[in-house]
Amino acid sequence: MSLAFFNGEFLPTESVVIPIDERGHQFGDGVYEVIKVYDGKPFLMREHLVRLENSAKAIRLEMPYSVEQLEDLIHEGLTRAELRDAQVYLQITRGIAVRLHAFPDAPPSVSMTFRPSKSLTEEVFNAGVKVALLDDERWLNCYIKSLNLLPNVLAKQTAADRGCFEAVLVRDGYVTEGSSTNAYAVKDGVVYTHPANKRILHGITRAAVLQVAAELGIEVREELYTPEFLLNADEAFLTSTTAEVLAITQVDDTVIGTGKPGPIVRKLHAKFRELIG
Ligand code: PDD
Repeated sequence: MSLAFFNGEFLPTESVVIPIDERGHQFGDGVYEVIKVYDGKPFLMREHLVRLENSAKAIRLEMPYSVEQLEDLIHEGLTRAELRDAQVYLQITRGIAVRLHAFPDAPPSVSMTFRPSKSLTEEVFNAGVKVALLDDERWLNCYIKSLNLLPNVLAKQTAADRGCFEAVLVRDGYVTEGSSTNAYAVKDGVVYTHPANKRILHGITRAAVLQVAAELGIEVREELYTPEFLLNADEAFLTSTTAEVLAITQVDDTVIGTGKPGPIVRKLHAKFRELIG
């Protein structure tokens, strides 16, 4: 079943009503994480929670719980919800206060949802996906996993309107990442991906996949690459908590490589799945 947590209480998801003055609602003034749970084990939970701490610090938001306390709450939620394969959404905001922009004198709010996993099917992994190239219209601190996702939402919807799974974003002539994924191009056996700076989210899956690539002896270059480079790539792929390692087989009207997931993507995904266990 689905379960929610709001400011200290576990409740049925449908019964939680967020106060109108909650700053997540009023301003998107908060940060979040999405953690996938495989067979009862939250995958790379520590890494996600450390990133949450870093995001909170970057927006000057004091974490109301330690990483260890959050881990305990997540385990408790999964047990209460009786979920083995799940997605945990965790959000921390600057609390509940009458709407004034500057920081309120209020404790942060913590909300979580525990829901059954919505995994992509094996057919999707085997076929790969089409993506659309779109302008990256986001702010300059994309390394913060902030609630302000309006440009991401608009890009994802434009991509969907064009029959695409994802929008791959371009800023100042270079591919940054997807609207909710990191993006990669493969050329001559080398994997290229945008450096982990302020212009992309430092994906937890990205870090795991770079590790997996090193173990497989696949060279990775964290370098800027252009949309043209992507269009001419031998292979391309996306990574995220929910999409794992997902081949891009078409970018707008251009077929990538053979139009099927290539050998490097398949190797990385297989090894990544070993990590999941
Ligand atoms: N999205 N880039 C962006 C902009 C993202 O929103 C995400 C994750 C990623 C991949 O990060 P990770 O590997 O840590 O999941 C990259 C989550 C899944 C979401 O918003 O639903």
